[in-house]
Order: sequence, then C-alpha cells, then structure tokens
Amino acid sequence: MSAIEFRGVSKRFGNFYANRNLSFQVKTGTIHGLIGENGAGKSTAMKALFGIYPLDEGEILVQGKPAKIRNPVHAMKFGIGMVHQHFMLAGTETVLDNIILGHEPGWIWIKRDQALSELKKISTLYGLHFEKWDHPVSSLSVGEQQRVEILKLLYQRSDVLILDEPTAVLTPQEVKELFQNLKKLKDEGKTIILISHKLKEVLEFTDAITVMRRGESVGTKVTAETNEDELAQMMVGRPVSFTYQGERKMFANASDMKPVVRIRDLSVESSTEPVKKVSFELRPGEILGVAGVQGNGQSELLRYLTDPKKFTKSAQGEYFFQGQDASHLGPLEIRAKGMGLVPEDRLSEGLLLQQDMTENFLLGQHQDSRYQKNGLLLRKKATEAVNAKIKEFDIRPPFTTVWSGRMSGGNQQKLVIARALDSNPSVLYVAHPTRGVDVGAIEKIHDAIVQERNRGKAILLFSSELDELMDLCDRMLVFFNGEIRSEYKRSEFDTWSIGRVMGGGDR
Ligand SMILES: Nc1ncnc2c1ncn2[C@@H]1O[C@H](COP(=O)(O)OP(=O)(O)OP(=O)(O)O)[C@@H](O)[C@H]1O
Ligand SMILES: [Mg+2]
Repeated sequence: MSAIEFRGVSKRFGNFYANRNLSFQVKTGTIHGLIGENGAGKSTAMKALFGIYPLDEGEILVQGKPAKIRNPVHAMKFGIGMVHQHFMLAGTETVLDNIILGHEPGWIWIKRDQALSELKKISTLYGLHFEKWDHPVSSLSVGEQQRVEILKLLYQRSDVLILDEPTAVLTPQEVKELFQNLKKLKDEGKTIILISHKLKEVLEFTDAITVMRRGESVGTKVTAETNEDELAQMMVGRPVSFTYQGERKMFANASDMKPVVRIRDLSVESSTEPVKKVSFELRPGEILGVAGVQGNGQSELLRYLTDPKKFTKSAQGEYFFQGQDASHLGPLEIRAKGMGLVPEDRLSEGLLLQQDMTENFLLGQHQDSRYQKNGLLLRKKATEAVNAKIKEFDIRPPFTTVWSGRMSGGNQQKLVIARALDSNPSVLYVAHPTRGVDVGAIEKIHDAIVQERNRGKAILLFSSELDELMDLCDRMLVFFNGEIRSEYKRSEFDTWSIGRVMGGGDR
C-alpha cells in the first residue's frame, strides 16, 4: 500500500500554480526521492502534505485514506513530520526543550524527565546517537541540529518523514551518517520522502524517484532502473552536462600578474574555528578554490576578507586589496574598491525576505551611478537590469515585484549570484554558489563564473563540493584545522589526494 498518495493536487499562489494536477505515490517503508528544477513546486507539495498550505484542488491520501490535513499539528496526528529546507529550531533553547516544545503544551516542566528517558530510548532504538540534550541548539553543528530535528519527528511518532534538501549544508561525513540513519529508519518500517538536487545521492539512497516540473509530476522511476542523465533530462527537458564544457581562456603570463589580493600570515581568533597563519595571493584571471570540510576556518576567513574592520582586535597579519592595506576597511569600503560577494548563507546574509527582487538587487549597489543620480534612485533602470538578469539566469517567477522570501531556494540563490556579478567587481568572493540549485542552473552559474575569470576577474571560490572546485578552479588551497595544508595546481588535481588532505592526512 502507499503510505502517501497525491491525486490531482493543485496549489495556487494568486494566479500562479505552484502545484498543478500533481499525482504520485510513495510506498510504505521506502525512501522516496522528490527532484525537480528550482521552483518546480517540491517544497510547496511537501508543505501541503504537512498541512501548511490548504489544497486548491485534488486530494492527498494517507495509508490509502483521503486525509484533509489542516495544519502541522494535525499532520502529526497522521504520523507525518517534516524537516524544512531551512531549519526551524529555536536557537537559545536547549535541545530537550526544542524537542518537547509544542508537543506537550503546559506540562513541559513536569514531563521533562519522562521525555528525556523516552528520547534516550528512541535514540538507542533507531541508532541515532546523541548526548547533548541540555545544550542550547545554537551551539550545535548543522549536522547535529538536523539530527535533533529527526529525533523530534521520531519523538512525535512520525511514520512518514519529509526531509527538504537535508544534505545541502552538511559535511561529507555528516551526509554519510544521515543516510546510514535514514536506512535504519527505513528498516524499522518508516517512510521517508527526500528532496534533493544531488542526483548522485538520490540515485544511491532512494528506492524510487518522482520528478517534478512546473508544478506537475513528469513521472516516477524505480531508482535501480534510471540514471543521472535520464533524471536530468526529465527535470529540465534537455540534456545536461555535469562538467564544465565552455571555453577556458589561457592567460600566457598568469603567474607574473600582480596579485589583487595578498594575504600574509593572517590569523583570526574565533569562538568557532580560528584561522592560523594563512598566506596566499589571488591574481586576475584565475579562480582560486578554497577546499575543506566545513568548519575548518574557511567561513572565518571569508568573514574576515569581506569585513576586516570588524576583526581589528582579533586578527593579525596582512591583507592587501588592490595593492593597498585593507586591514582597517569595512564591507562598503572594500566593495567600493571592487569586491563582489556571494555570501555563505543567502537567507541571513544575502536577502531582505520581505522586499521585492529589485530592492534586493539594489542592496549594496545604491551608490552605483547606473542606479542613482544626484542621490535619487533610478528605480526604472534597476528594474530593467533585474529583468535582464531574470532572463539570463532564468529566475522564477519572472516578476521583479516578487518578495524574495516567496521565491524558491534555488531561485533566491540565482538572484544573489546575478547581483554579485552585476557590479562588475574586479575581485569576487564566492561561497557555495550552487547550493540548492538545480542541475540546469548549475551549468549556467558555472558558466557565468568562468566567463568572469576569462574577462580577467580574480575569483576566490569557497565550496564544499569538491567536484565543483575541481571543475572550475585554476588552483586550490586545502584547509584543515584553520591552516592551508596544501596547495594544488590544476594539473595536480586529484580527488583522492585532496580528499586525504581535507581529512587531515598527507598529500
Ligand atoms: N508563499 C508563496 N507565495 C507566492 N509564491 C510562492 C510562495 N511559495 C512558493 N511560491 C512559488 O511557487 C513556486 C514553487 O516553489 P517551491 O518552493 O515549491 O519550489 P521548489 O521546487 O522547492 O524549488 P527549490 O528547488 O528552488 O527549493 C516558485 O515559483 C515560488 O516562487
Ligand atoms: Mg524547495
């Protein structure tokens, strides 16, 4: 029997169909992949199942019976739980409180002990080891937070677990653990719906895969009977190449060019991960990769590079930008000198969610002479520019008036990239450019980055996807424990060697 069945489900926002006549089935006790291009309607469909959105048409069946799920609390009664694309735990509360919060209103203080022993039972039963029950959630790594989200669902006795892009922000080790855990849950009879853009992991870990496009289902495949190429073609309606195929301009005397960024013996103190005596140079016309397992100082380095002023007390060493000492500059000043930025976290650092696309596009560009004259904003010019970007990057929905908070995750990412490139920066700091982005859009974004390089821009590329770095970079720095452990030239790139260094081993 199907644990879940969508029958002709439609969900509209205004006149726009986010889901249209969507039908598919998820078998009990399986891991079911849900894939599709950015804005295809995956998150919307799962939010409808979880009772966040009412359906406009059609019905959802749970265990073969039509279910009118009114809200998330009601969804829990049907045994349905969801971990969102962007986590929703309350940071300052402890893990335990987060798990029992909302589940047993009014009685929390009495039931804490009972809840704790129940949770310990659950974590043993499903083999999801966890001990930091009384730590505040904000002190946990992303992977640990996610485990808490999953434990919370199990505590609520969910039989169907929905995970919306759970691996986008995890380290490879955490990804491995997550899938081991999901496998255990499946063996215990749970049903798991997994949204992901990473076709490799979908192919490796699911039993069946439903592909969505423009709100509809294009089809459901048995995982063992399909492959990356077929799935990509179904998703975007054309063949997709998984490695960069475009031209890569050769710069004859690249290594003689004057560096635009020079870092010498940089140390940054940090409560998270310090940066220790890092030195490197970044030249025009190159993409320099920063590889490393998340949490080895890369985030701290990027934060320093974009806002050194904030670190005047906690950083030592040299930072030269365009030949000048930049160690005392703030973000606007560095921007004015030619820095473009794609931040690590588009939601907290990149976008104003209750502002439209044009407003977001202008962030950090208000002073640009293309968009203002004598202190007056040239809104029409800005809107024209955004419309051009919407075309170029296929941003959906294609209306400049849409609030960025109402755009799908991948489309938000495209907007942030388009903005960073628009200011025509000579130095680009780019972090995780394709996080949450579909395979078709990855092609486009990779192409845009290499084109900037070919135009002579200097690009520092932070990514947790080694494949992406190997594909795009001219050189790569490998971080471990806050240090640059090794540097590779393009001709020396080797997955195994770099992987070893990322793990703290020898080259
Ligand atoms: N609250 C909302 N108001 C208006 N439009 C919305 C809202 N939520 C989603 N949409 C629109 O519905 C469409 C589907 O969005 P959804 O988030 O379901 O896509 P998705 O398949 O999850 O994409 P991604 O892979 O980028 O996360 C998008 O075009 C989006 O802009
Ligand atoms: Mg989504």
